[in-house]
Amino acid sequence: MFNIENSIVQKIDLDNLNKRFIKLFIKRDDLIDENVSGNKWRKLHYNVEHAIQLKTEGILTFGGAFSNHLLATAAACHKIGIKSIGIVRGEELTIDSNETLKKCALLEMKLVFISRDRYAFKNEKSFQEELSYEYPNFHIVPEGGSNYYGLIGCQKILLETPNDYKYIFVAQGTTTTSAGILLSLSEESKLCVVPVLKGFDSIAEMKNLYIQSGIEATYANELLNRVEVLTDYHFGGYGKYTSQLLDFMEQFFKQTKIPLDPIYTGKVLFALFDWIEKENIRNCSILFVHTGGIQGGKMIAKKEGRTYC
Ligand SMILES: Cc1ncc(COP(=O)(O)O)c(C=O)c1O
Repeated sequence: MFNIENSIVQKIDLDNLNKRFIKLFIKRDDLIDENVSGNKWRKLHYNVEHAIQLKTEGILTFGGAFSNHLLATAAACHKIGIKSIGIVRGEELTIDSNETLKKCALLEMKLVFISRDRYAFKNEKSFQEELSYEYPNFHIVPEGGSNYYGLIGCQKILLETPNDYKYIFVAQGTTTTSAGILLSLSEESKLCVVPVLKGFDSIAEMKNLYIQSGIEATYANELLNRVEVLTDYHFGGYGKYTSQLLDFMEQFFKQTKIPLDPIYTGKVLFALFDWIEKENIRNCSILFVHTGGIQGGKMIAKKEGRTYC
């Protein structure tokens, strides 16, 4: 349905890496599709297949005003020919509030704007039952595609690489991508995760997702022993960034022509280079999983007058 072959593994040649004998590779999931980019198709793929197999009308999901996940769901469902409904946080919003919502509406997503108070119950059984009653015959996907199907979609990312890296770096929001990657991590690798939310309990969240997805607690604990959490790179919290981060991203873009975004991927690469210096890392191979986010990144670049994508 979408072109996974576009997601190449690209080697990055930079002096500060070469002098430490570090081989850095980037898994370019950002190249999969313009709207269904990065980890979005990974998390939607099996959800879409499930929706089709169950002969539902389409997918109902949740997101904020600038949600990459909402747009990706709208684009994927539109391309595949099934319906999509987006439950949006904020009753004051309309389809004209921003570019993301406009694009969702153009892709024929039915947008339902609800209050923040009501949205807070999005994962509650009673609210989901209400939605099923109102919109029968839709497959309900949690915010950010964070369910079993999302997890197994993300499990495939490493299987398209040599999977022999010492370290794998990836951003964390809901943890679906990192938890999926961890399921296929090879014996010799360690997973380094960078949560973009302040005060986020990465390990507890990953464990929760595993348990909800039917993975046994003892196996989940075993897997989670191989995770290192780099907690100090949220830059103030979700959606926040600093000029130091934007400077770093601009320089990286100038050197490599690889686009980043300041909400997820920019923070991870900043963390990666900082960690190399602080921990005096040498002589190893590292894979950074580029999870996309470029459409949001472009909006911020325009607003800030920056060139990093
Ligand atoms: C561009 C980008 N990178 C990383 C993430 C974090 O992924 P996850 O929510 O699976 O932890 C997200 C959120 O989905 C995202 O939009």
